[in-house]
Amino acid sequence: MAATALRVRGITVDFGGLRALDRVSIHAAPGEIVGIIGPNGAGKTTLFDALSGFVPCRGGVWIDGVRVDHMAPHERAAAGLGRSFQDARLFHTMTVLDTLRIASELRMKKATAVSSLFSLPASRVAESGSTRYAMQLVELMGLGQYRDKLIKELSTGTRRIVDLACVLIQRPKVVLLDEPSSGIAQRETEALAPLLLDLRDKLGCALVVIEHDMPLLLSVAERVYGLETGRVIAVGAGEDVVKDPEVVRSYLGDDPAAIARSH
Ligand SMILES: Nc1ncnc2c1ncn2[C@@H]1O[C@H](COP(=O)(O)OP(=O)(O)OP(=O)(O)O)[C@@H](O)[C@H]1O
Ligand SMILES: [Mg+2]
Repeated sequence: MAATALRVRGITVDFGGLRALDRVSIHAAPGEIVGIIGPNGAGKTTLFDALSGFVPCRGGVWIDGVRVDHMAPHERAAAGLGRSFQDARLFHTMTVLDTLRIASELRMKKATAVSSLFSLPASRVAESGSTRYAMQLVELMGLGQYRDKLIKELSTGTRRIVDLACVLIQRPKVVLLDEPSSGIAQRETEALAPLLLDLRDKLGCALVVIEHDMPLLLSVAERVYGLETGRVIAVGAGEDVVKDPEVVRSYLGDDPAAIARSH
């Protein structure tokens, strides 16, 4: 249990009469990149919504050994669950460094409360700490040249990296990424794989990645889960899971001609 960053046991989600997830179990070790694939409507985003507490579910969720499924979303975040929300959260008229500084200060609020008990100049301590970590993350994520640029001046792909940096600055144990490559340029997609591998190596968090771009996913994920209509239908090495007959059928339907074309 101790070595598992994320453990999910038998998660079930019902939307009215629709069972969107049916006893899904997954896990991820610290420093592991786990992929989730499946056709549209398979339940991938619902799984992330359930893990982060945005839709009610039955079953168990543990972050770093702590059971979190009874917790509110912000409590799960404090327990180490990070999730990227893409553009919506970023202020477009703020610079990249300020954006990260603020995200970092939110994390340090707790430290501020503790140090004020001892009458230390907490805000100054926290501010220098948050700026330092923000600068480190800017370098780590290759954002150096954009440091003083406004969010609105960035490409969609670079904005997504900044958003990911805002998640990472909270030092999560587990990061959930829902289609990081969607809507960004091919060149930026190609840069994602080395970035994700580098982050995994340097930060040691577990990454769970939903991705339709198979070359990207296969180049980063050590283990892949295949989902169809709310169920895990395959799990294993990515190359095996994408060739699994059940997974192929889930994408192509039962049309023999379509399956033949895929070979
Ligand atoms: N809030 C909701 N209320 C009712 N049904 C929902 C809700 N959210 C998702 N669903 C349904 O649950 C199923 C799973 O949807 P989900 O968005 O998780 O799929 P997905 O695997 O993320 O698909 P995609 O690849 O298109 O993003 C779908 O049938 C969807 O219509
Ligand atoms: Mg989705």
